[in-house]
Amino acid sequence: MSAKSMDELVSLCKRRGFIFQSSEIYGGLQGMYDFGPLGVELKNNLKSAWWKSMVYERDDVEGLDASILTNQLVLNYSGHEDTFTDPLVDCKSCKSRWRADQIGDTCPNCGSKDLTDPRPFNLMFKTNVGPVEDEGSIAYLRPETAQQIFTNFKNIVDSTSRALPFGIAQIGKAFRNEITPRNFIFRVREFEQMELEFFVEPGEDNLWHDKWIEERSKWWESQGVSKKKIRFLEVPKDELSHYSKRTVDLMYEFPHGEEELEGIANRTDFDLGSHSKNQDQLNIQSKIRKNSDSNSRLAIQNKDTNEWIVPFVIEPSAGVERGVLAILNEAYKVEKLEDGKERIVLALKPHLSPIKAAVIPLKKNNDDLVSLAKNIKDELQSLGKGRVLLENTGNIGKSYRKHDEVGTPMCITIDFDSLENNTVTIRDRDSMDQKTYQIHELTSYFSNFFK
Ligand code: GAP
Repeated sequence: MSAKSMDELVSLCKRRGFIFQSSEIYGGLQGMYDFGPLGVELKNNLKSAWWKSMVYERDDVEGLDASILTNQLVLNYSGHEDTFTDPLVDCKSCKSRWRADQIGDTCPNCGSKDLTDPRPFNLMFKTNVGPVEDEGSIAYLRPETAQQIFTNFKNIVDSTSRALPFGIAQIGKAFRNEITPRNFIFRVREFEQMELEFFVEPGEDNLWHDKWIEERSKWWESQGVSKKKIRFLEVPKDELSHYSKRTVDLMYEFPHGEEELEGIANRTDFDLGSHSKNQDQLNIQSKIRKNSDSNSRLAIQNKDTNEWIVPFVIEPSAGVERGVLAILNEAYKVEKLEDGKERIVLALKPHLSPIKAAVIPLKKNNDDLVSLAKNIKDELQSLGKGRVLLENTGNIGKSYRKHDEVGTPMCITIDFDSLENNTVTIRDRDSMDQKTYQIHELTSYFSNFFK
């Protein structure tokens, strides 16, 4: 069973050092969170699982890490300056501000129905680059990682000699000045996206779109998100983003309700077409604005026919924070023990666990035990499977409880038998079974476990 409420997750995250409110000592900054010692590991593990499956395990995807600050023209031609807005209303009684589509006709704060008419509010964070603050120095913090993939299209095609179909993957920060950030890390103003732009021949886009919807839901399952909690939502035509021909959202039952975890869009040739020079010489199908600023033809040549093609784009776009929230929700369990007590256990998939193993000497002041534990920690750490922790508290029961709660798959106890007979005890997080192993068996046991 997953967490019963968001409060349980928020409390665990704070208590054990996964996630904190940002700038907390000064009252916080709304819509921002900081990832603590365990949160940063979990987040990195999720991102690296995505990167492995998207880039390393495929032969048709390249990676990119582009700048966050983005030239105004990029977000002008992409359509974001004009259309990346939410409808904003003010409550005339209590002066609070709301997203019109989320509240109906009543202010959730004071109950007044005296609201202004909705008006568009652009969600992008604007700044100036360089010492002069004028119209010419405006730049934006990117609202999606996708755009710089499109602007780098020619660089990547030229440097890798790719032919269609192929993709470009990127993980990185995105920023949106959300009117009402809420539900912990679900809707925030600074977050990370894991995005793939997959370029295909026009006409093959529908097929690839279906393939990616299937691939992505399977991937979430492999991260521990149960299939029955994911629903495919066909986004209604009148709610599609300006670039999309069709979008399917993977909806997940978060503790606060069912909402979008990832969107998979068919962006057609809108973006490459919009950012390209010589648009009228290309057979662009989308309705785009004339581009008089770009110096690059964002098309690819068919090697057989020499014809220039503006590819269609299939885009699976997932939020890291929403992924972390879904995974925590799935993994959180409260179990009744035989003695009537309860334990909280975070049954994370081992590859996602922030700590892979805790090595615990039975007594914290015994130099021989501690030194052997340290050697074992160093040896397991050097295998490169992730963080291994020397847990020198001298309190085995308390250490087990802590490591259950943070999802450590195994605790390795070093006791006097370890010194005399070269054995250790491994306690399994999920079954709580304890088994004895020879020290020389440890590295292969550990490596196999995390294979
Ligand atoms: N490039 C396409 C794009 O950005 P989106 O549906 O606006 O599409 C993609 O965002 C994903 O990014 C969402 O499915 C969600 O996981 C995440 N995301 C979007 N806005 C977010 C926010 N304010 N806070 C946290 N995650 C967000």
